[in-house]
Amino acid sequence: MEGACEGSLACSTCHVILEDEIYDKLEEPTDEENDMLDLAPGLTETSRLGCQVIMSKDLDGMVVTLPNATRNVQSERFAERPSHQQQPQPSAQPQPQ
Ligand code: FES
Repeated sequence: MEGACEGSLACSTCHVILEDEIYDKLEEPTDEENDMLDLAPGLTETSRLGCQVIMSKDLDGMVVTLPNATRNVQSERFAERPSHQQQPQPSAQPQPQ
């Protein structure tokens, strides 16, 4: 799982799906978390941003499911950076002389 914004509520790459009983033990998500969750593919009734889940003994043994897809604007644009574009390869064809 990626946490592209490192927990600053600026992405939804840490989207996780929790079991009902675990979800109910947590504090309600903030408006900022809900705004980011709205952008997460595969949103469910028990979705949370993993970076906002504060671990405690009460959550021991919890099972987390990752959604089938994620949205990461950073990764989507990663290949567009000039330093990450493919350089043309020299031709393997013999050049006429
Ligand atoms: S890592 Fe970006 S919101 Fe959790």
